[in-house]
Amino acid sequence: MLPRAVMEQAQAEFLDWHGTGISIMEMSHRSPEFQSIIDQSIADLRVLLNINSDYEILFLQGGATSQFATVPLNLAGPNGHACYLHTGHWSGLALADAQRHCAVRVAASSEATRFSTIPPRADWRVDAGASYFYYTANETIGGVEFHFIPEVSGPPLVSDMTSNFLSRPLDVSRFGIVFAGAQKNFGPAGLVLVIMRKDLVGRAGPTVPRLYDYATYAGHNSLYNTPATFSWYLAALTFAWIRQQGGVEAMEANAIRRSERLYHAIDDSGFYSNPVPASFRSRMNVPFTLADPALDPAFRRAAREAGLEALAGHRSVGGMRASLYNGMPDAGVAALIDFMQEFARRHG
Ligand SMILES: Cc1ncc(COP(=O)(O)O)c(C=O)c1O
Repeated sequence: MLPRAVMEQAQAEFLDWHGTGISIMEMSHRSPEFQSIIDQSIADLRVLLNINSDYEILFLQGGATSQFATVPLNLAGPNGHACYLHTGHWSGLALADAQRHCAVRVAASSEATRFSTIPPRADWRVDAGASYFYYTANETIGGVEFHFIPEVSGPPLVSDMTSNFLSRPLDVSRFGIVFAGAQKNFGPAGLVLVIMRKDLVGRAGPTVPRLYDYATYAGHNSLYNTPATFSWYLAALTFAWIRQQGGVEAMEANAIRRSERLYHAIDDSGFYSNPVPASFRSRMNVPFTLADPALDPAFRRAAREAGLEALAGHRSVGGMRASLYNGMPDAGVAALIDFMQEFARRHG
């Protein structure tokens, strides 16, 4: 869900943005009006995460998946090598893509636990000479979240934060690159945000396509070509909304409260289960299974009839998944829990 207040504001401004007589969708991305949206979005993001001037903030297209190639192309290249933590679907796709562009060493994998854990730090093989160390801060499908920032002395830390960005405070200064697709926590699809240490810009080799070279974006304030203007505008509204709500600290308090309620309901039910140990459980994505998988279609059907959408687990794992992104109100979680309890009573 996106915050309702953000969507209502977008709706109110849809045909006539701030008295200009035109819609954001009709506006030049190089107009002073759109530039004011860009400037405000960057200023708000800097405040939200306390991002200092050592970091570039870039707005790109191609989804979070585009970064699976862009990161190795920029930081490693054909003669470099990188370390990856393999903790689930998204880190698996990222490392497979990186293998096309550089040598990849898997520092540790949680495959033996069917990606329901994070391997203990003592078991990681961190190569101090690697071009970067990569991990996925929240595995959206497995529902596994890092509640700590990995300590890796040496290589710059790179993290895919697509599904938990802005849901908690973040010490950006610990990272080389943080990236996130917008469509979970701060807007609609079409935009990917990259926060990167300035000294890492400009390392791509001469054969890297311009649109995969961070220097292209950094050198043109993310306006080398036409950006996803409407998505950017909604991201800007969302950043402002998060500030009004009390910032990422408020988002974190919401996420803890909502996810704990749901995990308790699952654990206490004797009917639903979640395979992830408590210390690795995601606050954003709560996967769960029913006591009898044959009931899955009936559960999904009844949930939709009750007004509860998008509960099917990812096609690769099945089961159910509740996503509790920033825009989800407490009432949404309460409605889900009521529904789950009633369904278990009828079918348990
Ligand atoms: C953690 C993570 N990384 C990457 C992606 C891929 O994002 P996109 O579809 O924007 O390329 C997703 C999508 O769900 C995701 O959850």
